[in-house]
Amino acid sequence: MTRTPVDPTTTPAWQALAAHHAALSPDLRGWFAADPARADRFTHTVADLHVDLSKNLITDETLDLLVQLAEQVGLAERVEAMLTGERINITENRAVLHTALRRPAGATPGLVVDGQDVDGDVQAVLDKVYEFAEKVRSGAWTGVTDKPVATVVNIGIGGSDLGPVMAYEALKPYVQPGLEVRFVSNIDPTDLAETVEDLDPTTTLFIVASKTFTTLETLTNARLARAWLWRRLVEVGAIEDTDEARTDAVAQHFVAVSTALDKVAEFGIDPSNAFGFWDWVGGRYSMDSAIGTSLAIAIGPDAFGQMLAGFHAVDEHLRSTPFARNVPVLMGLLNVWYTNFFGAHTHAVLPYDQHLHRFAAYLQQLTMESNGKSVRWDGTPVTTQTGEVFWGEPGTNGQHAFYQLIHQGTRLIPADFIAMAHPAHPLVDVDAPGRPDVHELFLSNFFAQTKALAFGKTADEVRAEGTAEAIVPARVFSGNRPTTSIMGPSLTPSVLGQLVALYEHITFVQGIVWGIDSFDQWGVELGKKLALEIAPAVAGDRAALDAQDPSTQALIRYYLAHRRAVPDLED
Ligand code: F6P
Repeated sequence: MTRTPVDPTTTPAWQALAAHHAALSPDLRGWFAADPARADRFTHTVADLHVDLSKNLITDETLDLLVQLAEQVGLAERVEAMLTGERINITENRAVLHTALRRPAGATPGLVVDGQDVDGDVQAVLDKVYEFAEKVRSGAWTGVTDKPVATVVNIGIGGSDLGPVMAYEALKPYVQPGLEVRFVSNIDPTDLAETVEDLDPTTTLFIVASKTFTTLETLTNARLARAWLWRRLVEVGAIEDTDEARTDAVAQHFVAVSTALDKVAEFGIDPSNAFGFWDWVGGRYSMDSAIGTSLAIAIGPDAFGQMLAGFHAVDEHLRSTPFARNVPVLMGLLNVWYTNFFGAHTHAVLPYDQHLHRFAAYLQQLTMESNGKSVRWDGTPVTTQTGEVFWGEPGTNGQHAFYQLIHQGTRLIPADFIAMAHPAHPLVDVDAPGRPDVHELFLSNFFAQTKALAFGKTADEVRAEGTAEAIVPARVFSGNRPTTSIMGPSLTPSVLGQLVALYEHITFVQGIVWGIDSFDQWGVELGKKLALEIAPAVAGDRAALDAQDPSTQALIRYYLAHRRAVPDLED
């Protein structure tokens, strides 16, 4: 494996793409009219997903050149390096093996990295998670009053929260009736307070999920939760107010997920109630590790296993499909095309599925913590723009909010539209004349939006509707606004796994083209460190306050003036 990233801008393919872009006049109307096979040719399948790239600003030549770019930056070699456990997370000197989390049991040949039986390790933890999940689901795991668990509260942040909460929301129809999972992430105590407010402490189980078990937010919330549990259990008469009773309560009402099992023990959680994982799983790539324990409890081991199989199917596609038909590779390359040649700054992800309402939030960490970098993996500056801003909301809500800008604004915003053929609900609007199937109405919006964005509406078409001439320009749609449509049969655990793996690999492909380490996240460290340094000033320490810059001092003084009366701090 080469340690020096290829500078993509120096490749022949990049030069050819620049010339191709300069000569290209996007014309989706004309391209479709002249080439009826365009939709077929640019539509590909990955596992159960049907991915239509035809409404992108591409020709056959564009895709050929993008594929050449992938070849010239050595993508194939990097994919293999990732899958076989090379330490491609250079700045942390770690392997990147989230794909090992979803390898089927007994896969041959087995995956051994640095003499470690990775498959065996993964399976052992998965078995432990599944056994625990079954105990909770069956009621065999009980709290201090021998009542089964009714509510699981997952305490985590970033990758220890966003993936599990997104998947829990996505797979709500698969959640065992009578079991609920809630999620606490923010260090703003309001989050925990409101989450536990109406809970019965005797039927509540907390999962403290933290890869490092050092994260300020998570450990603070875990301590607050522990204090709440003790107080409430005493209040309802479930335990005596003694140290021994409190220790027993933690054993029955707290479990943990972490790579740092020693720190779990320090917190007071019995390591036998802890589920491990490894430093080769990045936080934002960890929802299919033990970090997904809350999800495994909610949907059960069978469904969790189906989700893992969905992830794996896309891993296999990435590994074995030629680039010209390889969906994550093509979608990653398209993102490069828009970012670097069209100057796009953002990328919208618009699921037409209410169950995916946290998908964009999840993707923001995945994509932006991975590719928001200015240096390459060898420490040299990047040679082109990197990481777009990912954002989105479920359709059709977004249509009535920000779609105006996507349709008629001055910026190019590539967008992924996601929808499922089958709804997860049986609702029929019997009172709607002629159109009782609400899902069809919903999907009509999904189809209409990408059509409008691609083909627009000309001034003549607007005039033909009898529009007054002065208003015609405001009602013209330029079209040629690129979209990718992703459709699946229904949002099953497997399909969700496929979607997530697809975006994981799109992110990876972009990172490789740009030469960056998509698996570190040094950019979040400075703020964390400063927060700890500033904390004494916020608590009123005069010397600490004086050490701050004038703007920060003034802001803290504003807080102090409103929250605390500290007269000796007045000037
Ligand atoms: O602050 C960023 C980060 O390190 C993420 O990468 C990670 O997902 C999150 O914090 C939570 O970290 P941990 O799981 O170690 O608590």
